[in-house]
Amino acid sequence: MTIGFFDSGIGGLSVMAEALQRLPAQNYLYMADTLHVPYGPKDKDEVKGYIMDAVSRMMAEGIDALVVACNTATSIAVNELREMYSLPIVGMEPAVKPAVEMNRATGKRVLVFATQLTLSLPKYYALVSRVDEGGIVDSLPLPELVKYCEELQFDKQVISEYFRDKLSGYNLDDYGIIVLGCTHYPFYRHILREMLPPHIQIVDGNAGTVRRLSALLTRAGIAHHGSGNVSFMCTNDDPVYIDKMHTALAYFRNQNDE
Ligand code: DGL
Repeated sequence: MTIGFFDSGIGGLSVMAEALQRLPAQNYLYMADTLHVPYGPKDKDEVKGYIMDAVSRMMAEGIDALVVACNTATSIAVNELREMYSLPIVGMEPAVKPAVEMNRATGKRVLVFATQLTLSLPKYYALVSRVDEGGIVDSLPLPELVKYCEELQFDKQVISEYFRDKLSGYNLDDYGIIVLGCTHYPFYRHILREMLPPHIQIVDGNAGTVRRLSALLTRAGIAHHGSGNVSFMCTNDDPVYIDKMHTALAYFRNQNDE
């Protein structure tokens, strides 16, 4: 059985890495929309068209389930994808609800990192309005982090400096949780961890997404018949980018084994 993972670029590999660990008896097909990454600064309707085209290419390869391993793409297109295709589809959204719940007892604030597009959509606004009764959620887009990730820029000094600059206007004592609401960001979780005060927790939606995938596979009767084989595709069919994806996946798995 083959599970498809889709993202604008390399970010969704952070989610697929979790799936490879928890569900090793499946095969995986990863698709990056290299023709159009990054999605974050683009227009919603333009991006929706890109997602539909890329996913239709994945469907032509024959996948049994789809993970939209991209918060931005989920916000824009997951409902339409579910209407078009009958296979199990798992989407992602910034883990604002669990973060607010986890923080209730501490009285501290929640800071959500996500793309500009995710943060500007009515879906995000509705999510925050639903769960943030106390008005404790702040949001910050980190577009350069997507760019760094796509360039395989993992230098600790460069990235720490970037985070320091972005966070300079925030009093970190006021915050209890940072939510990584873009799948590129977990590539930098260890760097962020080292520079944040220990009381701040960092959460992402990766484990929850894979738990949901596992439940949907069971419900759909999709058996565990694979060997953890991974194939990669990208919309511009660039072999150099395919190599890059291998490197990024190995880097992410190494970081998280430590
Ligand atoms: N990885 C993506 C997300 O989870 C999108 C990054 C981008 O293309 O700007 O939102």
